[in-house]
This record gives sequence, C-alpha cells and structure tokens, in this order.
Amino acid sequence: MPDLYYSDYIELDKILNSQHPRSFESPEEGNDEMLFIIIHQVYELWFKQILFELDLVRHVFIRDRINDNSDDLSKVVQKLKRIGKILELINQQVSVLETMTALDFLEFRNVLLPASGFQSTQFRLIEAKLGLKMEQRYKKKYYKSTRRGSLSEADLQEVDRAENESTLKELIVRWLERMPYLTERFWKEYQHSSPVDRRNSPVDEQTTNSEDGEKHKFWADYREAYQTSLSGNEADRLAEFDNVFFETGRGTVPPAAMRAALFITLYRNLPIFHLPFELLNTLSEIDELLSNWRYRHFMMVRRMIGLRVGTGGTSGAGYLEGTLSQHYAFREITEVATFLIERSKRPVLPNALKEKVSFNV
Ligand code: HEM
Repeated sequence: MPDLYYSDYIELDKILNSQHPRSFESPEEGNDEMLFIIIHQVYELWFKQILFELDLVRHVFIRDRINDNSDDLSKVVQKLKRIGKILELINQQVSVLETMTALDFLEFRNVLLPASGFQSTQFRLIEAKLGLKMEQRYKKKYYKSTRRGSLSEADLQEVDRAENESTLKELIVRWLERMPYLTERFWKEYQHSSPVDRRNSPVDEQTTNSEDGEKHKFWADYREAYQTSLSGNEADRLAEFDNVFFETGRGTVPPAAMRAALFITLYRNLPIFHLPFELLNTLSEIDELLSNWRYRHFMMVRRMIGLRVGTGGTSGAGYLEGTLSQHYAFREITEVATFLIERSKRPVLPNALKEKVSFNV
C-alpha cells in the first residue's frame, strides 16, 4: 500500500477543480466572479461543519438522561462554542467580499440568475435544526418551491424533515423541564425571605413539593422580590412575569422550562449551574452571532445592489432586514434577562441545595 498522500486524503482535486466562473474564460479577462464562487464555497464548507456539530449535540440530548456533571454537558458546551467561533469567522469573511464593488458585481451578476444564497439548503438546515420553524419565518411566500429562485421541492422537504425532527430548541426545553432543582429534599430548611402578600398572585399556595413547581415557596418569594424591583412605568411587567413563568410561558417555551432557565441564570455561581448556564449563554450567543451575520450580509447587499430585487427574486435588502428582526431560535432564553433582579435581593437558597454537587436529568 502506498503512503497516504495529503491531497488524496482531503480530496483536494475535487475541491480545487470546482470553480467554474461563467462570465469569463481566461484569467486575463477575469473578474470578481472567482472570489464570489470561492467565498460561497468556503461558507458552505463551514455550514457543513456547523451541521455536523449540531447533529452531535442533538444526539446527546435525544438520549433520555444526560448527566449534567459528566462529559455530556461539557462536550455539548464545547461543540456549541465551536459553532460560535465558526460564526465569528464567517462574519469576518464578509469584509473579504466587500472588497468587491457594486460595479464589479454587475460584471457578472446576470450570469447567476435566478440562483441565490436563498437556495442554500445547508443554511436553512442550520436554522431548522436550531429550532426556527417555517411559521416563524418572515415572508413565508418566498419559500414556495414553485417560485423561481426558491428552494427545490427536494431541498424544501429536507428542511421540513429537519424542522420535524427534535430541534435543538425542543431538546433544550425538555432538558430544562426535567431540571430537578426544586427536589423537595433540598428545600426542607428553606425560609421565606419575607412575609409575602399573595393577593392576586398565581403562586399563593406554599409548598416545597417539586411536583408543584409553580406553587413552590421559592417562586412566591421571587415574585415578590421582582415586583419590588420594578420601577413605576414597568408595573405591567408583573402580569407578564406571571404569564411567562406560571401561565402560558413565552413563545414556544412552557412555564416550567422558563422557570428553570431563570433559576439557572440567577444562581449560575453555584457549581451545579456552571455548565447549564454556559449552555444557555452559548445558545443566546449563537443567536446573536447569526443575527450579526444577517446584519453584515444585509448591509453588504445594500452596498452591492441598493434597493434592487435579489437574484433569487425576493425584495432584496428589504427581505433581509425583515429576517434580521424575526429569525431567532432562542429569543425566549435570551429574554430571561427581563426578569432578573439584583444579586443581593435573590432568595437565599437552602444549604442542602447549595451543597448538592451533581445530579442527573
Ligand atoms: C455580492 C454578494 C451578495 C449579494 C449581493 C447577496 C444578495 C442576497 C440577496 C438579495 C438575498 C435575498 C434573496 C434573493 O432575492 O436573492 C440573499 C440571500 C442569502 N444570501 Fe446572499 N448575497 C451575497 C453574498 C452572499 C454570501 C457570500 C453568502 C454566503 C453563503 C450568502 C448567503 C445568503 C443566504 C444564506 C441567503 C438567505 C438569507 C435568508 O433568507 O435569511 N450571500 N443574498
């Protein structure tokens, strides 16, 4: 057997022979179409790696139990952080393409019609596997497979399948709902922080039974502390608090999962919550980095084509601006910050809970 050769191992021939600009034949008459093709290919390779990491993370959560203090959770956090680093990198790559001017782009724009990044199935799969659903998408009409410039029927079905498998968001919500931080035996010695007036409160009963999470003593105290923290023009927030944590939840995240996310965020200094907090924080970071990309891409598009329609037939910059405000997978997790209070005002946790160093969910 001959020794393995570098270019064979990474199949370099295939990659380096996959750039076929349509607007010129010889390098002497070349334009920026070469850069345009290469940069899209580089993006698609990184998208592939992101999907690979995402599938790995989803598989860890798909198992019935994951051990929060074992390698499982640290592996998940590490992979998600890697996704974040890739997103940072591809955000920076926009500047390389921005060395091309609007006139340079016009030299070859017509040859790619009606192809468009809109048809990047991998990008759609990333969004879908993170948890973005079709009904949440801005201008759903653009996604009809019969529309010129949209995804093909086969690609759309693949995205649809990804949406219907367990998305990362759904898996995270299930994990949060299972979080056993209210387990009764840790709360026996819990003292109310202050006498609480519970008129009009959905948390009027007092229990330390974890089955009754929303009626747990802790939440009665926290609600009280939150109410006290609100300034005069924020009085409506208490009703929102009740709604989010005890009634309907927020967006697609039910109240029990919202409570766990808030609890982890509040007490993230406890060793048991270090990794869970890192995890939630990284999800918000991924949302933010993706929206940074959307923003940079949108600004670049405005510079390249102004207000003209895209090659994929959308309204162009207008459509991209719409996705920027609407396409988030973990908005609810990020918005937990709305319901935080100062560290010193937090209810004091029972020692039994503080001392608990590991648990399985
Ligand atoms: C000259 C550079 C570029 C221009 C003028 C441009 C233009 C556009 C426009 C107008 C759209 C909206 C769909 C349409 O009507 O075509 C779009 C979507 C998109 N483009 Fe680009 N693009 C450029 C570079 C890139 C690059 C380098 C990537 C990297 C993969 C990319 C990925 C995407 C993706 C993923 C979408 C879908 C975004 C969404 O629906 O949220 N584009 N692009």
